[in-house]
Amino acid sequence: MNDWTQCVVTPPVNSKNFASLGVPVYRASTIPFDSAQSYANRHAQGAEGYSYGLYGTPTSRALEHKISQLEQGIRTLLVPSGQAAITLTMMILLRPGDHVLIPDTVYPPVRDFANQELNKLGIEVTYYDPQDFDALEGLIGSKTRLVWAESPGSTTMEVQDIPRIVKLAHRHGALVGCDNTWATPLYFKPLIHDVDIVVEALTKYFAGHSDVLMGSITVRDQSLAEHLRKGLGRYGVGVSPDDCSLVLRGIETMSVRLRHCSDVVSRLLPTIDRQPTVQQILYPALSGSPGFDLWQRDFKGASGVFSLVFTDIAAPFVAEALDCFKTFAIGASWGAHEASLPPCPLQCTVRRDFGKVPTSFCVLVLAWKQKRISRLTLMHFLHIWTRAADPSPATPPPSRRPPNDQ
Ligand SMILES: Cc1ncc(COP(=O)(O)O)c(C=O)c1O
Repeated sequence: MNDWTQCVVTPPVNSKNFASLGVPVYRASTIPFDSAQSYANRHAQGAEGYSYGLYGTPTSRALEHKISQLEQGIRTLLVPSGQAAITLTMMILLRPGDHVLIPDTVYPPVRDFANQELNKLGIEVTYYDPQDFDALEGLIGSKTRLVWAESPGSTTMEVQDIPRIVKLAHRHGALVGCDNTWATPLYFKPLIHDVDIVVEALTKYFAGHSDVLMGSITVRDQSLAEHLRKGLGRYGVGVSPDDCSLVLRGIETMSVRLRHCSDVVSRLLPTIDRQPTVQQILYPALSGSPGFDLWQRDFKGASGVFSLVFTDIAAPFVAEALDCFKTFAIGASWGAHEASLPPCPLQCTVRRDFGKVPTSFCVLVLAWKQKRISRLTLMHFLHIWTRAADPSPATPPPSRRPPNDQ
C-alpha cells in the first residue's frame, strides 16, 4: 500500500480486554457496511440499528437509553436544544386546522414560536391559565390535538395539576406534552402520570456546566416514538457525539448537584424573605407559592431555580443592583455550577393577577461550587438594593463590588 492510500486506511488495533467506565465517543457520518447487500437492507435493522451518523451512534444511543430509563419511557430522541425539543415536537405532531393549548407560563421563546410559526401554518394557539382548571376545560375542544404543560412554569413558577390535565386531554382525544426541565426526572416523572411526551432542556441540570446545548423528547408509546423519530429524520435533526458524551458525564453528578441546590435554596430563602425589597418568593417547595400542594403531592424534590418579585419601589433599581455582581453571572440559562441572575419581565396574557406586576426577577441558584460566597453575594446585593430603593437623600450610592465576593 503506498503512503497516499495508507493515509486513508485505518489500521486494525487490538481492543480485546479494553474497557472504560465512561461511554466512548463514536464520531461518524458514514457508517460502513460488510457488503452491498447489508447496506441495501440497512433499514431492516429497525430504530436501534446504525445506518448513518445523523440517526445515531453508540454514544447517542447510550444517552437516549439512560434518559429513557430515568423518565420511565420507551424511547428518547435527542435534538440540538431544549427549545428544539418543544418546537420540533409541535411541528411534527400538529397539522393545519389543529388546535394547541399552551400554558401562559410557557418558556417565552415557545410563545414566540407559537405566535409566529404555528399561526403561519394555520394551527390555532390558545394560552391558558396554568392554575385555572375550569377555564382549561372550557378551552379544550374537538380540534385540540395537543395540550402543552410546563410545571412549574417559567418565571412565575406555578405547579400544574398534571394528572388532572392528562385525564381531561385524553377524554378529548388530545395528547399531553410536558416540559420537565425544572424538576428533571429525578424529582418528577411526567410519563408515570400518563403524559404522552416529556421534554427536557438537557442544557440545564443534565449537562450541568453551561457548555452544551441539547434537548430530549421521551415517550411511552411505540407508534408515537416512530412518528417522532421519522419526523426528526426528515428534518435532518441530529446531535454531536461529543456533546452526548458531555451530557452523559453530567448525568453522573446530577443527583448530587440537585440535592446541593435544594439545600442552598432552603437555607437562603428565610433570609431573602426578610428583605423589604422582596414582595414575594416564587418557589414550588415554599408553602404559599402557587401550586405548593401539587408539588407536595407529585414531586420528590425541588431544584435550585426560584423567582423573586420585587416591590414597585425596588423594581427600577434592578439593572444597577445587578451590575454589583461578580460571582453571579448575569445571563440566560441555569442548571450549571455558577449561579445566574437574569431579570425576567413577564409576558403573560391571561393571568390578571400577574399582569399587574411591573418587573419580576428570576434568581437562579445552583452554587454547588461556591455556596457560602454566593450567599454572601446575594445578601450584599439585596442590601444594596434596599438602600438604593430608599428615597432618603442620606442614602450613599451603591458600591460597585461586594467586599467579600471572591
Ligand atoms: C423551562 C425551559 N424549557 C426549555 C428551555 C430551552 O432550553 P435550551 O436553552 O436548551 O433551548 C429553557 C431554557 O432556559 C427553559 O428554561
